[in-house]
Amino acid sequence: MKIFKTKRELDAYLLGLRNTGNTVALVPTMGALHEGHLSLIKEAKMSADIVVCSIFVNPTQFNDPEDLAKYPQPLDEDLHLLKAANCDIVFTPTVSEMYPSDDPEWHIDLGDLDKIWEGEKRPGHFQGVTQIVFKLFKLVEPDVALFGQKDFQQVMVIQRMVELKSLPVTIKICPTVRDVHGLALSSRNQRLTESGKSQALALYKALNHIKNNIQQHSVAQIKKEALTILQNEGITEIEYLAICRSSTLEEIESLKGEDHAVVLLVAWVEGVRLIDNMILR
Ligand code: PAF
Repeated sequence: MKIFKTKRELDAYLLGLRNTGNTVALVPTMGALHEGHLSLIKEAKMSADIVVCSIFVNPTQFNDPEDLAKYPQPLDEDLHLLKAANCDIVFTPTVSEMYPSDDPEWHIDLGDLDKIWEGEKRPGHFQGVTQIVFKLFKLVEPDVALFGQKDFQQVMVIQRMVELKSLPVTIKICPTVRDVHGLALSSRNQRLTESGKSQALALYKALNHIKNNIQQHSVAQIKKEALTILQNEGITEIEYLAICRSSTLEEIESLKGEDHAVVLLVAWVEGVRLIDNMILR
């Protein structure tokens, strides 16, 4: 496994590989890797000849400096996991490598997609995400890039950016990986205690309740029932629970006439912000 810290070294190495006809898959990450990331690497191995994984805690997507400061960075462990997963190349740049002092301002018009849900709660977040993913796409020029469904809105935003910038990359969305009980794996939920983890399972229960019962109930009724499931488990800090059209993430009042719909959920457990979703159709 090759490890590069600079764009120049990575670019030179990839050029050689591309010249000999290899296809490239990119898995962008912020490290603190878990089974969810490893499932992306596995899928990437089946999607292209060469797999590049980037590890970069991107400061421009954090609207809360404390969240950035607390973000785990177990680089040695991450490299170990990537090696075991047969990743070919790891890119671990510094902040100044990705954001040189003469870096131009970034703004992309994502319409309402970066103003609702995560966009509203975390102003500027998706501008930061698109800024770094665009830089990585320009550098690596992947044939395919892989993202987890867990951050559903993020994937929608990235897909929109790819369309707006006409980038020649296929975006693959990989299913959320859950622990044996159904808790979506995330770098943040590693901070939960065992009792927090079991409380957090109510998110999965609530999402499943919606998926399994939405045909028989109105959206308003099913949301009420899901909120009761969360509250019964002692989860009271619920940022949003929304049943949305997948393409625009606008809230819908009924599934009738909708080809694709998703339920989005964010709630806090033990001071950890948990994000989850489930595709309804
Ligand atoms: O999902 C993440 O880990 C990050 O938002 C990403 C896509 C690597 C961009 O920094």
